[in-house]
Amino acid sequence: MGNLHSGPPMNFRGRVFLAPLTKGGNLPFRRLCLAHGAEVTMGEMAYAYQVKKRSKSELALLRKHPDETCFGAQIAASKPADAIVAGNAAVERGASWVDLNCGCPIHDIVRRGMGATMLQRPTQLGKLVAEMVKGIPVPVSVKIRLGWSEHDQNASEVARVLEESGAAAICVHGRTREQRYSRAADWDAIARIAAERSIPVIGNGDLLTWYETHARWRQSGVASVMLGRGALIKPWLFREIAEKQAWEPTAEQRLAVYHDLAQKMKAHFRDDEKGRERAMRFLPWHFEFFCRYRPLPAAGWEEASRAHPLMQTRFADDEPDLPVLERLLRDPRPELHQRLATLLWEAADPAEAEARALLLAAEMPPVGGQAAEVATAHG
Ligand SMILES: Cc1cc2nc3c(=O)[nH]c(=O)nc-3n(C[C@H](O)[C@H](O)[C@H](O)COP(=O)(O)O)c2cc1C
Repeated sequence: MGNLHSGPPMNFRGRVFLAPLTKGGNLPFRRLCLAHGAEVTMGEMAYAYQVKKRSKSELALLRKHPDETCFGAQIAASKPADAIVAGNAAVERGASWVDLNCGCPIHDIVRRGMGATMLQRPTQLGKLVAEMVKGIPVPVSVKIRLGWSEHDQNASEVARVLEESGAAAICVHGRTREQRYSRAADWDAIARIAAERSIPVIGNGDLLTWYETHARWRQSGVASVMLGRGALIKPWLFREIAEKQAWEPTAEQRLAVYHDLAQKMKAHFRDDEKGRERAMRFLPWHFEFFCRYRPLPAAGWEEASRAHPLMQTRFADDEPDLPVLERLLRDPRPELHQRLATLLWEAADPAEAEARALLLAAEMPPVGGQAAEVATAHG
């Protein structure tokens, strides 16, 4: 396979990145983000040692769609030989750059000496990145957290080592490994790292609205920003950021967006029983995030967002007069998400999806007054 990447050299400044998202960042979802203004996408994390063993499922994580003209593949690795093989496999599949995961907190990754563990071994990390830079013919970036724990925040030192090792950019998720999503991302700490480094720093954490994104971007002085859960909840956030204005879609309009995702899944997984089975591993899952959408107009929320990120805010959901479809799309019940995914897969067009969703709402009355928490335990 030849090198499919033929675009201009990767520019890490002035961009809005779709974060690497295991499960969520599947190819059809990334295409949905492109349709709503995203320009820079990233793949789901792939284990480098599995790519080296030619694992089909792991190689699939490095694949991009032709419409993704600026795509970064993310790998988890601790050994240079694995990272270089995996990086080159990504380049052969068209990646514009390769990102090394140094933030993943999950046990399986950490016990193998990858992900956030690398933060505790800056010297080894520096050597790994230097080898990657030599052995992979596209830029290498690294995604880190602030540190292992609140009392062990060494991101400044790690960032210096990464710059000296030849990394092209650093993405900083403003929380520690131990914090998971329990606290608001620390954008002051991100700003300090951005000020210390001359390579681009990409700021990441809690961006849910266009006004929070622009405020954090400006105040922190980062080169670029990255959206994770914000994009999973509102795939149209990219366009909102570009246009500096909110789009507050009705439930009908949102259902049409989700129907579009189902169609993109059909195109990717195929429109047959096997394709449906594969799509159903993803589509219902997306509703865990879609159901958290709330309109957050700047006029009502911008000030509150300065004190506490809206991503981390709990919204009471006891409005009695919500339209039926709106209430249905806010419902957090997994069994309902399964049913919604099925009807979206089967419906020929958004109008049919809407008619069937209304029947579903009549069949499954709301459990009432659910409070929706946007924060999640993922990642
Ligand atoms: C479902 C989910 C999957 C994630 N998977 C990855 C991953 O594969 N690699 C990674 O570096 N970070 C992963 N993360 C972390 C995000 O990339 C991002 O750093 C984090 O969610 C903070 O950004 P946010 O506040 O905008 O969500 C994941 C997060 C979520 C919610």
